[in-house]
Amino acid sequence: MKNVLVTGGAGFIGSHLVDELIKRNMKVRVLDSLVGGDQNLENFGEKVEFVKGDCCNKKDCAKAAEGIDTVFHLAAHAAEGQSVFIPEFNAKTNIVGSINMLSEAINADVENFVFTSSIAVYGTQDKMPIKEDVRLNPDDPYAITKKTFEDYLHVYHELTGIKPYIVRFFNVYGPRQRMDDPYRGVVPIFINKCLKGEQPVIFGDGLQERAFTYISDVVEPICDIVGNKGLIDNPVNIGIDKPYTVKELGKRIVEKMGFDKGIEYIEKRTSDVKIAFCDMTKAKKLFNYKAKVDLEEGLDKTVEWAKKEGPQEFKYMDFTEIPKLTNKTYTSKKI
Ligand code: UD1
Repeated sequence: MKNVLVTGGAGFIGSHLVDELIKRNMKVRVLDSLVGGDQNLENFGEKVEFVKGDCCNKKDCAKAAEGIDTVFHLAAHAAEGQSVFIPEFNAKTNIVGSINMLSEAINADVENFVFTSSIAVYGTQDKMPIKEDVRLNPDDPYAITKKTFEDYLHVYHELTGIKPYIVRFFNVYGPRQRMDDPYRGVVPIFINKCLKGEQPVIFGDGLQERAFTYISDVVEPICDIVGNKGLIDNPVNIGIDKPYTVKELGKRIVEKMGFDKGIEYIEKRTSDVKIAFCDMTKAKKLFNYKAKVDLEEGLDKTVEWAKKEGPQEFKYMDFTEIPKLTNKTYTSKKI
């Protein structure tokens, strides 16, 4: 691995990955449409070659893939709850965009293709924690797109020998995660609500569980796994092995923010998985993985960053493909 491309490299996880790859002396190119903003680009300076473009445009993918040996494909529309009422947009961005990137990677003789999938592919399961080899049971369009592209990677690995590395991330949080996006990311949403002096809002009873994983605990391992033969075309969970309820998360954030107006509870979000918590045996066995940053430390770092950024206005999208399914929690602009 030497000449690498990061799609979605201007985003939250992407920009941290770029920093890590630079630290490892890689030659880094970024392909990003900047729909999520250009605020992270300034961190890169001269060290990164930036291609402004969209994976939905094959020409942009072809330009970005030229001379590259390893693609880290992160570009996606990653709002799980929102995907329910914008399924076509979600499929175009996440499936067609990913197929374009993969096709052009193959055309450019790229060797490795790292794909940030998600534990969303498991959907609702009976047995916890979830192992990689269970029957996938996606509960929403976003999860379907992640599962579908995993299947494409498998087929094109067989057809062409391109080496896919599929990582199934948990709920990732940390500095640079957008605080102005009301559709995703409970950690930055809660922090932003406190910064704005408004009550954080919990969807449902707050007993839904998530394994909140600090950014460095996903970025370092995905650089480490490239070249690991045991992980070629063999999806692996990456995240922390301790889940918390959203209620407990809320309690900790309001305490850290010194916010005294409490938390509001409203109706449950459509298709919201109750427990998203996975078994980490495979990652431990194959590359000795163990998350290092616990929730306390990760929240402290994130809160410190967010306070410097200050409160942000939430940016709502008025667009829906299925008005009947557009969750009231969004249309009411409660968050
Ligand atoms: C997250 C990831 C997704 C990943 C999936 C795996 C993010 C932004 N998304 O989706 O990429 O594939 O985990 O499980 O990390 N909630 C509230 N109030 C709010 C916002 C959210 O109660 O103001 C609740 C949601 O209903 C949900 C939980 O918090 O139960 C987490 O929501 P969110 O952070 O948006 O992530 P997921 O939907 O779990």
